[in-house]
Amino acid sequence: MSAQPANATVIRATDVCKAFDSGRLRTQVLDRLSLTIDAGELTLISGPSGCGKSTLLAILSGLQKVDAGHVSALDSELGQLSLSELERFRLLHTGFVFQGFNLFPALTAAEQVELPLTHLGLSTHDARKRAVQSLEEVGLGHRMRLRPAELSGGEKQRVAIARALAKQPQLLFADEPTSALDAANGQTIIDLLHRIAHNHGTAVLCVSHDPRLVAHADRVLTMEDGRILSDRRRDAATEKTSS
Ligand SMILES: Nc1ncnc2c1ncn2[C@@H]1O[C@H](COP(=O)(O)OP(=O)(O)OP(=O)(O)O)[C@@H](O)[C@H]1O
Ligand SMILES: [Mg+2]
Repeated sequence: MSAQPANATVIRATDVCKAFDSGRLRTQVLDRLSLTIDAGELTLISGPSGCGKSTLLAILSGLQKVDAGHVSALDSELGQLSLSELERFRLLHTGFVFQGFNLFPALTAAEQVELPLTHLGLSTHDARKRAVQSLEEVGLGHRMRLRPAELSGGEKQRVAIARALAKQPQLLFADEPTSALDAANGQTIIDLLHRIAHNHGTAVLCVSHDPRLVAHADRVLTMEDGRILSDRRRDAATEKTSS
């Protein structure tokens, strides 16, 4: 499904700086941060609250601009894209999953998943077909006609994952996707993200404090003081510490 071979580098951030001003106070959130993210892996980003994890996801997905440095994603230099090109980049290539699910209360599970597909230009028939496939892939084939109020937290998160997955994105971003869920549902979500990375060749980049997720990630990046402090791969004995 993905055009990228597994293990291809799909995101490269170089010396990224980002600060926020509030009143007189300037907070340097990212300080010459560099990283690469590969296809076909579940990469976890952990680090203390407020260290800039969500900001980093927003930057890597083209939602926020950097103050300095570069981000290239799927061979696009994000800093050089216009707002409409960035929007198109996100629509075509990225999927998002959030802690709070971000579902529309009035829509059924199937409709939630179909909606972005119609924005992609798929016909109603094709959008429905792909939505059904994605909902089946997350184990919700039998819950497609239910609305969020009729679904459990874990099921809602699986609808949100199906919605992201149905776009067949090469980049999937998840910000604390398990923190609103109990242990069993959190585990299901982790397994699902892992499976998506491996089966579809998607680069799955997930921010989490969840220690259960650490054990399941292919790679764990730890952030501190605006940089990547450590970079560990599960399968390799190599542990790299950035300078
Ligand atoms: N739009 C903004 N305006 C001003 N400050 C901001 C803005 N967005 C983030 N910040 C600040 O940047 C810092 C990093 O925020 P961010 O949300 O990226 O942290 P985080 O690591 O995701 O934290 P958490 O684990 O609590 O979600 C915080 O100090 C936050 O207050
Ligand atoms: Mg955050």
